Amino acid sequence: MPEFINTRRRNLILGGSAGLLSLPCYANKLFTPRQSAGPFYPDLPMLDDDNDLTQISGKKGIAKGRIAELYGKVIDINGNPLSGVVVEIWQCDFNGRYRHSEDDQSRPMESNFQGFGRNITDDLGRYRFRTIRPVAYPGRTPHIHAAVFRDGMRPFVTQIYVEGEAQNSEDFLFQRIPSILRPMVVADFRPTDNGIVELVANFDFVLMDGVG
Ligand SMILES: [Fe+2]
Repeated sequence: MPEFINTRRRNLILGGSAGLLSLPCYANKLFTPRQSAGPFYPDLPMLDDDNDLTQISGKKGIAKGRIAELYGKVIDINGNPLSGVVVEIWQCDFNGRYRHSEDDQSRPMESNFQGFGRNITDDLGRYRFRTIRPVAYPGRTPHIHAAVFRDGMRPFVTQIYVEGEAQNSEDFLFQRIPSILRPMVVADFRPTDNGIVELVANFDFVLMDGVG
């Protein structure tokens, strides 16, 4: 089994299971499934688009919410790191509001949350964001939208969910993912005591397209 699929996920997926050939995988390797970008890719002016969503450049305040480091790799289905690719994330703020003109105006925008961030993978395919643990909004379990851009290829778009979140079982988009692939779109937000960072979450993008 390739090392990029961590042991916990592997056990969850493969423990005692048979009939692997019928699973929705590529060459018996699991990949991150694509998901809808949804209607709220930010359309409001960006004051800042760096990889720290908890602080907007030029402002003193810190975003409301549980501050989390989200980090991981972008790799292909064979485990090769994809360096120099752009990773974007966007999510609603602590009030459940996106930086989008058509999101529900009844929820006030939280002025210190950037709502969107961008990072470029390093030589090992690594990316990193500081953000908040995603919160629920009406009709959706907590999630972070993400897109990976590679030259000349269709953007890879998905959503990152929170492991163990009770609302996942009722979320129509999460449930749409074949159960065998659901572990590939969840991140475990684990407690840490690293200053103001309350949680850390590892998430790898395992891309199956573009591999010869
Ligand atoms: Fe969303």
